[in-house]
Amino acid sequence: MMHSASHLVALAATFSSALAAFQGFNYGSTFTSGAAKQQSDFEAEFKTAQGLVGAPGGGFTSARLYTTVQGGTANDPISAIPAAINTKTSLLLGIWCSAGDATFAAELQALKSAITKYGIDFTKLVAGISVGSEDLYRASPTGLLNKENPGAEPSTIARYIKEVRDAIAGTSLAGAQIGHVDTWTAWVNGSNKAVIDASDWIGVDAYPYFQETQANSVANSKGLFDDAVGATQAAVGGKPVWITETGFPVSGKTVGQAVPGLENAKTYWDQVGCPLFGATNTWWYTFQDAAPATPNPSFGIIGNSLTTTPLFDISCKVTK
Ligand SMILES: *[C@@H]1O[C@H](CO)[C@@H](O)[C@H](O)[C@H]1NC(C)=O
Repeated sequence: MMHSASHLVALAATFSSALAAFQGFNYGSTFTSGAAKQQSDFEAEFKTAQGLVGAPGGGFTSARLYTTVQGGTANDPISAIPAAINTKTSLLLGIWCSAGDATFAAELQALKSAITKYGIDFTKLVAGISVGSEDLYRASPTGLLNKENPGAEPSTIARYIKEVRDAIAGTSLAGAQIGHVDTWTAWVNGSNKAVIDASDWIGVDAYPYFQETQANSVANSKGLFDDAVGATQAAVGGKPVWITETGFPVSGKTVGQAVPGLENAKTYWDQVGCPLFGATNTWWYTFQDAAPATPNPSFGIIGNSLTTTPLFDISCKVTK
């Protein structure tokens, strides 16, 4: 019996790609000034993230986006797409769904244009498509209390998911995994079941930092995170759960018992992030949120300027 070396290599490649998980960060479409990011901005961010010193797992080679429309245009594809092609960055696309049907139509047009313009160079990089981001949370009492925008109804999100499926049918993006991103509190709310039913995967955003009605010190944060993901898993009937946002602020205001700072951000990274990286599809919040101005709280693992040196050791090596 003979196995050629190339056969074994091919088998190994199949095996490892089946095991590999997407690992990346979230990327907004604008700077804190409101200026739209251009292709060169996205390319610089993606390349710098890929070069992060001490990065665990396979490195941070994936980008989650919130919108498919380039800032400053009506419905042009976001320039993060050609930037991803040039830097071999995989994409969790985002379709913005909290601003009504006309805005959704522009998102859909941008997606169709991107497929036509960039073809398989683009579509082979797509990890999935998120139809919406925290829209159900924003429509909930807590979201309304926090004066977020009005969000969207579950029936609307389910309808939008179907429209995206119809739009990509017969294109090189057909079969892309379509889901929705929301807070764990939205996923455990039975009134949102239509969105679970319409989704291939479930994206969960979980921030113990913001859970001020609970004992949310950094020491308790891993437990709160696991509870949130566990509750989501129990509510979604075996659909894959992806971690689309989580993180801990490097600076900013204290919320309940959660005190921002580099040491606590590293603790959260080590306890919550390290077990996820390479094992579960994860887009951390976040790579950079402080360009040019630092928000409060700030979650970026680098500061105001692009650098491959993170603010704390991200290597996931046990230090004690
Ligand atoms: C549950 O979901 C429905 C539909 O999204 C929403 O109207 C309602 O406010 C949610 N309830 C809670 C407690 O979040």
